[in-house]
Amino acid sequence: MSERFTKAAARNIFYGGSAFFFVAFIALTAHSHYYIVRASTDAAGLTDSVARGKHVWERNSCINCHSLHGEGAYFAPELGNVWVRYGGPKDPEGARAALIAWMQSQPSGVPGRRQMPNFHLNDQDLNALVDFLEWASRTNKQGWPPNDAG
Ligand code: HEC
Repeated sequence: MSERFTKAAARNIFYGGSAFFFVAFIALTAHSHYYIVRASTDAAGLTDSVARGKHVWERNSCINCHSLHGEGAYFAPELGNVWVRYGGPKDPEGARAALIAWMQSQPSGVPGRRQMPNFHLNDQDLNALVDFLEWASRTNKQGWPPNDAG
């Protein structure tokens, strides 16, 4: 057994294996990139306001309490589908007003209920946040979260 496993065989397995997995790595990277750019994002709906909303989201660290598409903290509700939860697809004006009113009325002060701080955002930032959350709900989340309640 040991005589047949020569140095040359070991070298060929090493080079062959490296080449095979390098090609697999490049192919999977290209596939991920293609999928993100073509299938999972909503490139057409990516407006300046959506980008502004994402910056407001990051500046205020909403992710420290909330999850977005399952990523983030689990202290507060998932927000990747909050637009749908508030009825956005059927009544966009109503959902926008309700989301803004919700953010402006925090903290609720209800005893025993988890509290969200008030970020004192101006109208432009609040509307941009809603645009960002609406956009997020339109990206392909592969069925996550499994129900509207998040
Ligand atoms: C310190 C933790 C915390 C941070 C930071 C935070 N939130 Fe919240 N948020 C909460 C909690 C807790 C609730 C649920 C409160 C309740 O149900 O009374 C909530 C609820 C919400 C809701 C309503 C969700 C629903 O399904 O009804 C929205 C919208 C929301 N937050 C948006 C934001 C945005 C946007 C930011 C960043 C600007 C943010 N939150 C930052 C704690 C936080």
